[in-house]
Amino acid sequence: MCGIVGYIGQNPSKKILLDGLKELEYRGYDSAGIAVLEGDDFSIYKALGKLHNLEEKAHDFETHDFAIGIGHTRWATHGKPTELNAHPHLGQFSYVVHNGIIENYQELKSMLQSKGVTFLSQTDTEVIVHLFEHMLLTHKEPSEAFARTIEQLHGAYATLLITKQSPDTIYFAKHGSPMILAKNATHGEYFFGSSDAALIGKATQAYYLEDGDYGYVSPQGIVLKHANRTIENPAFTTLPSDRLSAQKEGFRYFMEKEIYEQSTVLADTLMGRLRDDSVYFEELAGLDTRRFSQIKLVACGTSYHSALTASYLFERLAKIHTTVEVASELRYREPLLDKNALFIVISQSGETADTLETLKMAKAAGLTTLVVCNVDNSSMVRLADYAILTRAGIEKGVASTKAFATQVTVLWMLSLFLSALPKERMQAEIATLRQLPETTKVSDTLHEKLKRLSKRYLYGHGFFFIGRDLFYPLALEGALKLKEISYLHAEGYPAGEMKHGPIALADPELITIALMPQTLLYEKTKSNVEELSARDATICAISPLEFDKSDDFIRTHAHAHPMLEFFEMMVILQLLAMEISIRLGNDVDMPRNLAKSVTVE
Ligand code: F6R
Repeated sequence: MCGIVGYIGQNPSKKILLDGLKELEYRGYDSAGIAVLEGDDFSIYKALGKLHNLEEKAHDFETHDFAIGIGHTRWATHGKPTELNAHPHLGQFSYVVHNGIIENYQELKSMLQSKGVTFLSQTDTEVIVHLFEHMLLTHKEPSEAFARTIEQLHGAYATLLITKQSPDTIYFAKHGSPMILAKNATHGEYFFGSSDAALIGKATQAYYLEDGDYGYVSPQGIVLKHANRTIENPAFTTLPSDRLSAQKEGFRYFMEKEIYEQSTVLADTLMGRLRDDSVYFEELAGLDTRRFSQIKLVACGTSYHSALTASYLFERLAKIHTTVEVASELRYREPLLDKNALFIVISQSGETADTLETLKMAKAAGLTTLVVCNVDNSSMVRLADYAILTRAGIEKGVASTKAFATQVTVLWMLSLFLSALPKERMQAEIATLRQLPETTKVSDTLHEKLKRLSKRYLYGHGFFFIGRDLFYPLALEGALKLKEISYLHAEGYPAGEMKHGPIALADPELITIALMPQTLLYEKTKSNVEELSARDATICAISPLEFDKSDDFIRTHAHAHPMLEFFEMMVILQLLAMEISIRLGNDVDMPRNLAKSVTVE
């Protein structure tokens, strides 16, 4: 995903900007660029692909004195990954970088084109710089023109702009995408970064801009505004100096950070893919979806649970016959692969050996292949005919969390993309998808409750995670999370399967985590849980509806859509597993016997 850096000062700008971009590399990108203004001279470099391409292009460039500069790593959303679409974007005498999405860019672009402005790129970002220069025609003061520009942008953005009209100043604004302003003891030196990873080691003090903040910075100082009011003495905090702990951003474990991050990475996953009444995947341009009579989903582990979740959505929403396979099974069972099937592999890493082999098999059999993956340029992304990236950012915790959340989101969007839902139903689904970032936010109250509850679940002879329909794959995922990091025995079951055998294990030492959403088969699940309760199993019920036959009860919000219940319960299961593991003294991020990327069969 995109990254932003900015610098004002006497030190070599190129190095500072490129170093900052390197720290943001982990977010994933397809092109990069910098623009530096020294006196009246702009130096601008852009390159496709990895940062070393940009470094090579800018090899002979150095600043010698005071300069201002902005830099960007781009992850294409509007317009293909090309050098022309890479940031910074030029107006006549100004450059801009931007993260996020300007939802009304078409409208603004048409207005500017009607006034004779020519656009070079296909990006939404370019409207910012042209709009700014257009505003300068009526507002001579650049800060005023910038404020009037920002006023007209709808959507999410973090943006930096530099202009020859004021060659010692960087203009900034934040709304919906992260941006940090930083400084150190050196007078008149300032830094910007879309994450503090880009700032550690360079700056000591950071101000985390709030949505709606905008202003400008020059060697004379900072002017910070919010809703036309000037904020005097913004509260800077100390930046951590240790990079590893900084990467954890104050969390105890990467897994914890990644659980909390789900809310923001899901906004990235959705970005640019939702229209008012349709879903759009630029990556699937040219794919004739009407020719598939079935879908085959293949994956391992957590990714398999995403696939299983997706199978409910594909059949229910897209009305396409869907089968799901564990990759290590499909490989050797001499499967009949039908050319009318769209073959979808799902993988966080894009390197899992078994999944990769099934992709090769499908290609060899002449099927159209698609990978849903988190790592660009991974083997699967390179091999598949089509690839949709999940945009979760690097996942360090071995137990997958945000990768699962983003996979399910992409697959839900894909099921809508393939569907022929009536307009109103589609609009309702899209409105629900937009609620995911809010639904997956972790509240202190919830986390505290789970910390407290976790002490009751350190013993016993096993855990059942049970649910029906979409909540069955979620139960499987909850059980996998727990067993991976707590080493306690846990199994996921369809709630309706209990009386076909597993209920024989029921006693007070058997702990059942029951997923009881109100929007999907509540009464049916409830009777299954009651059967366990009647046999004195210990029950922890997760539901928006009071359930008095449980020993513990975790109340969720009364959402109207099953997928919102799904995502809220997903966060609960992840946190519960993590808190149990912490109490047991295990290494949460690196559980025994497990590797992050399984490249052997
Ligand atoms: C569990 C987990 C694993 C992976 C599995 C597939 O938390 O991370 O089960 O999901 O090894 O890996 P990918 O998705 O990289 O193919």
